[in-house]
Amino acid sequence: MIDISTKFAGLNLKSPIIIGSSGLTNSIQYFKDFEANGAGAIVLKSLYEEEIIFKKDDYLKQAKKYGYDSKDTNYIYHKIKQENVNKYLQLIKDAKNSVSIPIIASINCVTPNEWVNFTKKIQEAGADAIELNIFFIPNRLNKKSQDIEDSYIDIITKIRNKVDIPIIIKMSQYFTNLGNMIHRVSNTGVNGIVLFNKYYSPDIDINTKEITVSNVFSRPSDIYVPLRWVALTSGTVNCSIAASTGIHDGEALIKTIMAGADAVEIVSTIYKNGIKQIKEMNNTLIEFLKYRNLNSIKQIKGQANQINSNDSAVLERVQFMRYFSDNNDII
Ligand SMILES: Cc1cc2nc3c(=O)[nH]c(=O)nc-3n(C[C@H](O)[C@H](O)[C@H](O)COP(=O)(O)O)c2cc1C
Repeated sequence: MIDISTKFAGLNLKSPIIIGSSGLTNSIQYFKDFEANGAGAIVLKSLYEEEIIFKKDDYLKQAKKYGYDSKDTNYIYHKIKQENVNKYLQLIKDAKNSVSIPIIASINCVTPNEWVNFTKKIQEAGADAIELNIFFIPNRLNKKSQDIEDSYIDIITKIRNKVDIPIIIKMSQYFTNLGNMIHRVSNTGVNGIVLFNKYYSPDIDINTKEITVSNVFSRPSDIYVPLRWVALTSGTVNCSIAASTGIHDGEALIKTIMAGADAVEIVSTIYKNGIKQIKEMNNTLIEFLKYRNLNSIKQIKGQANQINSNDSAVLERVQFMRYFSDNNDII
């Protein structure tokens, strides 16, 4: 019997494959299929801070959407806020009732404001953990990187003090000193870190001159950034680590575990290859272990990280010196 169970952020998972936050996790439509195909856990679609605290213009739009008369501002503001939160709390409860694998609620946040109080309700609704997807574009050019980093730590600490369930931080790779920031986050008392979130970037339609949304899905080659940083930090931080972005098949799953990941979060490959991809990836992992007479993923975890690798300097090399001197043919 091959054991592919793992522990991530204090949660016991039957498989290291977690279904990441996305449109696929916005209703319980697919949850039973995720579980039946061997998923270890599900991260719900994020509740966005803007759905709880919105600006006046957005609020007026929302008021119209909900069919409210926009004159009684205070009442309607609280009513809409409450409805958005209640909808999310109901999603958590429905998810918990439909499957037995852990359900991770997700919040996308940019400030440590009063919305933090809702995290307590998320815990009460039965979520097994909360994942925080925190990112703000540092577009105020006079702000120092240290101050920006401190804002992240401030939000995380405020939430850590509010809830008892495991907290997972889905991190951006865009920090001045990424390794140091990963360490700072891991020292706040959180239980897991996801390396990394993928953000969509704006594109420009050259005919209409409109700003559009670029491709939201990852490519398999996107794995190399998380792979490096999982390998550089696993075994050195005070919490679990999950890899995310660009993990599309079983081989990629095995690589991230070898780099030291306790779990992975996948989205794009499910959109592209269907829910059966979870089973395919688990099977590739099982076959890989079986072929090598191994019986648990613990036996391969971290084998290629910076602590255990025979040539860990490769993880730090970024220039092409050796590659160019060996590869001169036009392809
Ligand atoms: C359609 C779509 C919707 C997403 N929505 C969210 C979201 O609400 N919250 C979040 O944290 N990440 C969201 N993500 C990001 C994914 O959770 C994941 O981090 C990203 O897609 C990288 O993983 P992948 O390479 O397996 O796709 C979304 C991704 C996609 C493609």
